[in-house]
Amino acid sequence: MGLVLGIESSCDETAAALVTSERTILAQRIASQDAEHAPYGGVVPEIAARAHAERLAPMIDAVLKDAGKTLADCDAIAATAGPGLIGGVMVGLVSAKALAMASDTPLIAVNHLEGHALSPRLSDPDLGFPYLLLLVSGGHCQILLVEGVGDYRRLATTIDDALGEAFDKSAKVLGLGYPGGPAVERLAKEGDAANVPLPRPLLGSKEPHFSFAGLKSAVLRAKDAGIHSDADIAASFQQAALDCVLDRLAFSADRIDPVPALVVAGGVAANAAIRSGLEEFAQARGMRFVAPPPSLCTDNAAMIAWAGCERLALDGFRPDPLDIAAKPRWPLDPDAEPARGAGVKA
Ligand code: KG4
Ligand code: ZN
Repeated sequence: MGLVLGIESSCDETAAALVTSERTILAQRIASQDAEHAPYGGVVPEIAARAHAERLAPMIDAVLKDAGKTLADCDAIAATAGPGLIGGVMVGLVSAKALAMASDTPLIAVNHLEGHALSPRLSDPDLGFPYLLLLVSGGHCQILLVEGVGDYRRLATTIDDALGEAFDKSAKVLGLGYPGGPAVERLAKEGDAANVPLPRPLLGSKEPHFSFAGLKSAVLRAKDAGIHSDADIAASFQQAALDCVLDRLAFSADRIDPVPALVVAGGVAANAAIRSGLEEFAQARGMRFVAPPPSLCTDNAAMIAWAGCERLALDGFRPDPLDIAAKPRWPLDPDAEPARGAGVKA
């Protein structure tokens, strides 16, 4: 059995976890920085990096103590090495390097997106490769064909905003504060999704990609018009977003050989309405639907430790060198063609 210490610090969550190759999370801690960033309505990179630097070392100590383990018990130390806010990523990666060097333990530099992409295999031992993955977070919105550890084919991405970003910006327009996704979801439960006519950008497009900028602007116009309740706007936004997601998924699913499972990961995967829409989609296509529990959807270190376990189990595993650099950008599929469109993010 392998034991991996995972470290996550790429955005506004400082997190550490100890996970075994048998899928047991022995200990995990997570400190959100919501309170620090809330006054600014979004994540301030410098504040995030400083908060990670203050919290990470005591948190790693605490996680080891919680599990009754020491660094000497770990088979590897896995840390997010990108993509993300570079200051925060550096804090986590440098800490991991120092611990790896001091304890003579292998370092595994994990792509944060790979952490999300493999997280469903931590919660579901029966999920094998290949699977169709909808990866929806604050910075990314992609459809990927996951064929193995380190083997990702990007089928679609967003040409402007990520889905989580659209949730966050809509929340801001509706005065719901930061972070916005969970707040929009709560308010949407009180509203009628049929009441506010909102656009579904790129629905039926011959390109595989997503776009959410127009939907976000339409939310702003609907709010300014002052006709509809905030709850109706939230519900209508969430429905429009789901319609776009399902249409784009159908486009990609129709163009690949059938795969047995549809999987969702990333922060937006915590949204119950999105999850149930995806589940229906999967059922209608005879696919199994797999979604990690909401606590493993939003940023956490267990998924980073698990990605480390997956790497450790590969034939010919090699640790990463201690001089590996933190990467602000790091696509899962470096060979994917750039999406055409203004403001492409991935
Ligand atoms: O994966 P994640 O925690 O961090 C990134 O890697 O970006 O995703 C954060 C994003 C935020 O945009 C947040 O608003 C969104 O996920 N999110 C949600 C929900 N919970 C988190 N969006 C919609 N509904 C939710 N329940
Ligand atoms: Zn994330």
